[in-house]
Amino acid sequence: MEKTIEQIHQEALNELEAASEAEAVQALSVGYLGRKGAVTQFLRNISKLPPEQRPAAGKQANKTKKALEKIFEDALNRLKTKDTVTGDRIDVSLPGRTLLAGSVHPITQITKLMCDIFTNLGFDIVEGPEVESDYYNFEALNIPKNHPARDMQDTFYISDNIVLRTHTSPVQIRTMEKQTPPVRIIAPGKVYRCDSDLTHTPMFHQVEGLLVDENVSFGDLKGTITTFVHRMFDDRISLRFRPSFFPFTEPSAEVDILCVICRGKGCRVCSQTGWIEVIGAGMVHPALFENVGYASRFTGFAFGMGVERIAMLKYGIDDIRKYFDNDLRFLRQF
Ligand code: PHE
Repeated sequence: MEKTIEQIHQEALNELEAASEAEAVQALSVGYLGRKGAVTQFLRNISKLPPEQRPAAGKQANKTKKALEKIFEDALNRLKTKDTVTGDRIDVSLPGRTLLAGSVHPITQITKLMCDIFTNLGFDIVEGPEVESDYYNFEALNIPKNHPARDMQDTFYISDNIVLRTHTSPVQIRTMEKQTPPVRIIAPGKVYRCDSDLTHTPMFHQVEGLLVDENVSFGDLKGTITTFVHRMFDDRISLRFRPSFFPFTEPSAEVDILCVICRGKGCRVCSQTGWIEVIGAGMVHPALFENVGYASRFTGFAFGMGVERIAMLKYGIDDIRKYFDNDLRFLRQF
């Protein structure tokens, strides 16, 4: 007995279900729809049917032909892309691959915070060049030719007279050359020293501060720095001013804050002293005013602080080098 078109259709579907390779599907397609295929044969034999049966049979056979064409084509497409979706099925409930979003580097975040605190106190932000002349980096700051800070071990020399700035203090001179008092500026930026260990990297960041006006006293300096530290950390943090020396300030002080890592007990970060030096400061040395042509009635204070140090204390980080390893596991925490 001849197979009905429904039987052929069903057989094709059954065989397709068992086919797992593109070649097998291709073979089935030829076997049913090719020149000698079962569906094609069926269509050809319609002319042998009694006339009244022909239209219905033809309609049904063409429907089957169309349906199988589509099913074979879909199956082929699915099998061809199989390699790229691994496995037979795609789990549409799996989360998609997201693009990694960048974030602001912790040093940039802290620099911004520092700038915000000082601009709220009335300071303007200025910048200066990182490649600096010997004059601005040393000479104008009252650092004579034979000063130890000029030692080749500390300073990166570009040429005899050009250096990578070792601090942001040259911006003091550049600002005073352009501006008459009152001057109230901070200068954030990169500085360079030939140094590398737990608490030193060859490139690091400083924020310089300078305030010049009439009747500026050491008390103003103390008040400004204390306000800054309290706003940066919290009101209860202990800080101390220690007498120190810088060629460009007189008198000079260094400001320590209680080590937030060990809370003053002593640890490797604070070299067992319980305190961490974060700021160098002092009253602007009269020699600087002379170098920029300021009248002698002006007084002022200046300070410089290391951004990495402040960030270490703020975030409780014990190795400064972590900031520059670019380890995403570290950077994502901020
Ligand atoms: N420039 C000094 C340093 O880098 C810091 C400092 C700035 C000290 C201003 C006093 C006044 O160590």
